[in-house]
Amino acid sequence: MDEQINMIKTGIEGLDDLIGGGIPFANQVVLAGGPGAGKTLLSFEILYRNAKMGNKGIYFSLEESEGKLVSNLKSTFSQFTDVDDLIKKKIIIVEGRQISAELSNRPSETEHEFGNIVSQMESMIFKESAKLIIVDSSAILSLLVQTPLMYRRLMLALSSNFRRLGVTTILIVESNNLERSKVEFKPEYFIFDGIIMMYQNGKQEKRTTGIEVIKMRGAKHSFYTAPYEITSSGIKISPITDQI
Ligand SMILES: Nc1ncnc2c1ncn2[C@@H]1O[C@H](COP(=O)(O)OP(=O)(O)OP(=O)(O)O)[C@@H](O)[C@H]1O
Ligand SMILES: [Mg+2]
Repeated sequence: MDEQINMIKTGIEGLDDLIGGGIPFANQVVLAGGPGAGKTLLSFEILYRNAKMGNKGIYFSLEESEGKLVSNLKSTFSQFTDVDDLIKKKIIIVEGRQISAELSNRPSETEHEFGNIVSQMESMIFKESAKLIIVDSSAILSLLVQTPLMYRRLMLALSSNFRRLGVTTILIVESNNLERSKVEFKPEYFIFDGIIMMYQNGKQEKRTTGIEVIKMRGAKHSFYTAPYEITSSGIKISPITDQI
């Protein structure tokens, strides 16, 4: 049997090579990186490339409205001229809400709200038969719970429910540090099946970028860190040259 059949390709040349072909079906994957690393752009590009292959996807933005998100994405990826068309055909669904603003009116209902947000996502995934989903980001979900233990439990429930729905998920996680040597491990990193990290090392004009697959259950992934560049035609990941 062809192993590729059991995978969702990211469609990004270089990234599929790093992962070992693609993301195994129904894997729950964390995409982590510092502020401005390109997490939103990279995950949207994966959704976009999949839409072009006929795989329906939903982008759940928990911090930005749909309009603002899509207009930022189109302005960076100006060569993705068919984004509106794919959205109109519902091959890409963008669901944007500003949870922090919604919660400022109801500060006491937070843990309950976590459950509500997740069940709304689940019903939409089921209704739309989506194959791939992006959740941007876990930061807002972590603000909804009082203790690290409760957060861990809720994230565990989220990942097992999404796995049961058969959907491949990319959960965006913010890391405080841009640099590879300073990354701190978070609960999601252990619960989820895969971790992809984006780094920005060095300072200002000397900054270099790197993307690395830390783990990917069910895939023979590489142990390389590859430089990446954000361009109007997508994220370009350099071919692997040096082993760490
Ligand atoms: N046209 C462009 N060309 C090159 N780089 C760009 C372009 N547009 C945006 N960028 C880069 O992309 C970054 C934003 O990417 P993105 O929004 O995906 O980051 P993020 O990791 O999601 O950030 P945050 O943590 O703030 O959500 C900008 O900080 C900028 O460096
Ligand atoms: Mg972002």
